[in-house]
Amino acid sequence: MYDFKIAAADADTMYRDLASALGGLVAGETDAIANMANAAALIWETLPDLNWAGFYRNVGGELVLGPFQGRPACIRIKFGEGVCGTAAATRQVQRIDDVHAFPGHIACDSASASELVVPIVRDGELLGVLDLDSPNPGRFSEADEAGCVKLGEILARAL
Ligand code: SME
Repeated sequence: MYDFKIAAADADTMYRDLASALGGLVAGETDAIANMANAAALIWETLPDLNWAGFYRNVGGELVLGPFQGRPACIRIKFGEGVCGTAAATRQVQRIDDVHAFPGHIACDSASASELVVPIVRDGELLGVLDLDSPNPGRFSEADEAGCVKLGEILARAL
């Protein structure tokens, strides 16, 4: 049984514990879908104020929906489109305080107000993106970005 209780004492401690829990969850497992599914669930259970947490995979140069928690979402996103497609095309983290001000933002859930998208890259290959959405404007801080980049590094070795 996995029973993680990660207290959000401060962001650094919380993300350190979250990274440790994620490392434990994916250790020894090579199935990418299983690892993304558990990662999405762990993030969803741990981070407050999210309305979506999950993955889009790079399938032949297009983002295709992967394991997630939250409402059903857009299935395919072209590189360069929306926040996720921009993260995929540029391989740069996208931390967007107000998604409605982001040109081409794809509104899968009208409740989303802010978004953090982390590209997952291994050996120069884009595997996909980790996408977090929040109903709160400006939900994601620099500490969230740094913490989620670390989660992405763990996942890059596990997908
Ligand atoms: N808002 C995203 C689309 C994916 S959903 O948020 C799950 C975007 O603009 O790329």
